[in-house]
Amino acid sequence: MDKLVIHGNTHLNGEVKISGAKNAAVAIIPATLLVDGITTLENVPNISDVKIICEILNTFGAKVNWIDNNTISIDARNLNCTDAPLDMTSKFRASYYLLGSLLGRCHNVQVGLPGGCNLGARPIDQHIKGFESLGARVNVSQGRISASCDKLIGTSIYFDVISVGATINLLLASVLSNGTTILNNVAKEPHIVDVANFLNSVGADIRGAGSDSIKINGVSHLRGNPTYSIVPDQIEAGTFMVAAVASQGNILIKNCIPKHLEPLSAKILEMGGTINDLGDSLRVSCNHRLSSVNIQTLPYPGFPTDLQPQIGVALSVSSGTGIINEGIWESRFLYTDELNKMGAKISSRGTTAVFEGVSKLLGAPVYASDLRAGAALLIAGMIADGTTELYNIHHIDRGYEQIETKFNSLGAKIKRINCD
Ligand code: EPU
Repeated sequence: MDKLVIHGNTHLNGEVKISGAKNAAVAIIPATLLVDGITTLENVPNISDVKIICEILNTFGAKVNWIDNNTISIDARNLNCTDAPLDMTSKFRASYYLLGSLLGRCHNVQVGLPGGCNLGARPIDQHIKGFESLGARVNVSQGRISASCDKLIGTSIYFDVISVGATINLLLASVLSNGTTILNNVAKEPHIVDVANFLNSVGADIRGAGSDSIKINGVSHLRGNPTYSIVPDQIEAGTFMVAAVASQGNILIKNCIPKHLEPLSAKILEMGGTINDLGDSLRVSCNHRLSSVNIQTLPYPGFPTDLQPQIGVALSVSSGTGIINEGIWESRFLYTDELNKMGAKISSRGTTAVFEGVSKLLGAPVYASDLRAGAALLIAGMIADGTTELYNIHHIDRGYEQIETKFNSLGAKIKRINCD
């Protein structure tokens, strides 16, 4: 087990390049199983969730080859369509995308119930409802989920809740189905559009991704040999944006899509930060203490839940009192207990937390409860007085590529230490 030791009081300055989006990559890599050919993916984030999904693809007979640090080729011509190893699939959330892609390609699939960050209940009833509507038989028992069908037949599906995972899974399952599928009340996150763009680039017929309703005209097969570049990670970009203003620094964030970051940009401006939109990069800075704001997390284009813990750190040292209402997950304030160990004054109850801004955080030993909580505590450590030891950093490695290298290039003082 590694830990990060962070010497604080840093004003972050310089430039950083954003990697490809985790939540797009962990969907597009399983999507390549639908392609009867070889796919090359560029701008792939080199993170542990991506490495695990690549290993799982290999167990299905797909040949995943790392061409360089951020490029992979996947040969899915000869799949053996067996069951996914349960210990591997239950390790992380995105293994549920194997359900959609293998149901579409092989008409039969079994995976372990998905794991992932502990954010409260994480049901998959909408995924199951969608597969069943397409004609699949789905069975959940003893920690496994299996789905099979003779063929999938296009239909109209209305999601009762807006779900990123269910939207993508039903896109995957329906591209090779017979007829037309219409998905209503879908998620609109940039990675939904990226998955649809990838599938269209290999011959799918998907329209409307990014709106409330997506239409998929089933096609008989998807062709190989395309090269596709994964969209930049808006959550990684947002993490650096928050770090820039919370540390009263100045960062040029390169390889990002400013449009995807508008909900965060609006809040940073409201808090007194400065943002210059340079097209494919953002310069984010602040030279004074931020002011508190209230935040409500919502599905895109609302304020993203995956940036809630990071902005929570900024609120913890802002002047005044701010309130965050978490609108997606029932339990995403575990990080506030850790921040309180660093001198923050946060009280949380259910899905609401009240942040009474303090002038300074103080370094302390803290534990990451999940990926974004880990990123938030890293920011806290960089702006605090003294030294912070951050444990459970395997959570951070799931979703951020070379995080301490990137922050150290901006002036942070972070060391990774092996505790074994
Ligand atoms: N929900 C249901 N039934 C379902 C599916 C979801 O009730 O069948 C509920 C959930 O309980 C939650 C809400 O709908 O309250 C939204 O869940 P969603 O399905 O959108 O989440 P997800 O697909 O499991 C993805 C990201 C999360 C991110 C959420 C919301 C991946 C692999 N994960 O999860 O990312 O928080 O969307 O944007 O794409 C992260 O990257 O740190 C992370 C947790």
